[in-house]
Amino acid sequence: MAGIEIRDLHKSYTVDGRHLPVLNGIHLSLREDGITVVLGKSGCGKTTLLRLIAGLEQPDSGTIRFDSTPKTAFVFQEPRLMPWLCVRDNIQFSLSRRDISPEETQWILETVGLSGFERAYPHQLSGGMQQRAALARALIYHPSFIMMDEPFAALDHFTREDMQRALLDIRSKTHASILFVTHSIDEALTLADTIVLISGGVISAEYAISVSHPRHLLTDEMISLKRRIVADLENAT
Ligand SMILES: Nc1ncnc2c1ncn2[C@@H]1O[C@H](COP(=O)(O)OP(=O)(O)OP(=O)(O)O)[C@@H](O)[C@H]1O
Ligand SMILES: [Mg+2]
Repeated sequence: MAGIEIRDLHKSYTVDGRHLPVLNGIHLSLREDGITVVLGKSGCGKTTLLRLIAGLEQPDSGTIRFDSTPKTAFVFQEPRLMPWLCVRDNIQFSLSRRDISPEETQWILETVGLSGFERAYPHQLSGGMQQRAALARALIYHPSFIMMDEPFAALDHFTREDMQRALLDIRSKTHASILFVTHSIDEALTLADTIVLISGGVISAEYAISVSHPRHLLTDEMISLKRRIVADLENAT
């Protein structure tokens, strides 16, 4: 489990001699074992925020404080598998073999719907299957904090729904905190305990969702929340 406090985070880049401010004072508290979904227009700084939290980049100023040292995992939009390793070896790549029982490997493969493919190589899998292998690789490590950058964007509708269900199932079993970036408002409404919008380099809106899972997005409550989010995103800079 991980609670995370982000205070007054600033990040800018210099591109072609031009100063490009991206994040201009992000304040965000991530609850332990909650799913926080980040929404925002393309280029607003969602990936930048994840990379800062993951320590892949340094902020210009501001602080990121973890309650305890989390075991973190990062799932990227593209699978980033090792092409020369089969699914099983990709999943076990960051761990020594003896840390993982065959039962556990089997459970992870079943959870992401890849049973029977443990010996397949990435080029023998579809894009969606590769992404599921990438998710399994993140989960086998039993992370307490998972950052996911549009992980299901390339999947078809039904596979995406399966993966969303798998993620909720995993969260309820492992109590991991999840920070999830997506462009899909419906995906955000399906998964999130909290949705945050990034606009103008700050968190411009935050919505807490108390409806329990599984959710029906066509209830009056969820439809009106979706309308609010759409309106806020349309007004976003
Ligand atoms: N390494 C970098 N060097 C220079 N500029 C960068 C770098 N990384 C990101 N940027 C710029 O920072 C801004 C935010 O990029 P970021 O990738 O965080 O956006 P995003 O919200 O994730 O967008 P998308 O939804 O399209 O993935 C963009 O204008 C981008 O050009
Ligand atoms: Mg991005």
